[in-house]
Amino acid sequence: MFTKTEFIDIDPVAAEELLALFLQDQWHVIKEDDSKLLAVYEQYYIKVFKKTNIVEKIKGKVVGNRSQRFSRGNSLLKEIGLNAPPIVVHGNFNNLPFIIMKEVPGWNVSDIIHSYFVQPSREGLRWKRVLLRELGRTLGEMHRHDIVHGDLRASNVLLHEDAGKLSLYFIDNERTRVAKRKYREKIRNLVQIFMMSRRGFSLTDQFRIFSAYYEFSNIDSKARKIMERDVLKTLDKRLRRRTKSLDGTLLTDPPAERLFSYYFE
Ligand SMILES: Nc1ncnc2c1ncn2[C@@H]1O[C@H](COP(=O)(O)OP(=O)(O)O)[C@@H](O)[C@H]1O
Ligand SMILES: [Mg+2]
Repeated sequence: MFTKTEFIDIDPVAAEELLALFLQDQWHVIKEDDSKLLAVYEQYYIKVFKKTNIVEKIKGKVVGNRSQRFSRGNSLLKEIGLNAPPIVVHGNFNNLPFIIMKEVPGWNVSDIIHSYFVQPSREGLRWKRVLLRELGRTLGEMHRHDIVHGDLRASNVLLHEDAGKLSLYFIDNERTRVAKRKYREKIRNLVQIFMMSRRGFSLTDQFRIFSAYYEFSNIDSKARKIMERDVLKTLDKRLRRRTKSLDGTLLTDPPAERLFSYYFE
């Protein structure tokens, strides 16, 4: 049963219909574990947050439940001009917090790297630099405002295309927040995004991200060297520890030629 629902920028009739269809099991479940359920229906995603342990209960009272935290994380990014999927409904489902968000059509960056950059063509290499620069820029913007993403793996960054123009979207924003331990949390984000180094990603590529990142975050040149050292040291440790292959799907659509014809604003 749905309770405490609130609709945001969605026709209420359409929203009621979405909820009814969920109750009739008409949504396609993508993932379900102890912590959450993720399902899709047409251009909507629903996420039901399932954890109900004592820590979560206390957190819920103090900083809001997971759906509220998710919405807040999303809004933080939007306030500074970065993209996050629009949330259209939130509330409770069987007393568990949930959100419904709009689908961001596109591909996750993990799949893009996996599919096109393992053995890139010349054209692919050129385009890859454009993507790395945009990753560095957006992350720099985020960190300049002292906002950190809670789980910045490449699969949580979506590449969206509209009329040939690309933009990056950050999803999974439940733990996106204003950093408390700023330096540590920023390092952590950089390491998370650099974990894509497991495939098709060179040291030069890392420096391309750093270079755009510095341009847009306001880290002074003395701090840069230290930051680089700290990131690469932690990254090295994590890459050694982790032998699992990249969690990416091999994309065939978009074909490389089409993808490489798209550019960021
Ligand atoms: N709003 C959305 N638009 C498009 N794809 C999405 C959206 N939300 C989730 N996805 C897809 O579902 C996957 C898992 O969603 P995510 O919110 O990252 O859950 P998890 O907590 O399991 O990582 C994403 O990697 C992405 O491919
Ligand atoms: Mg995710």
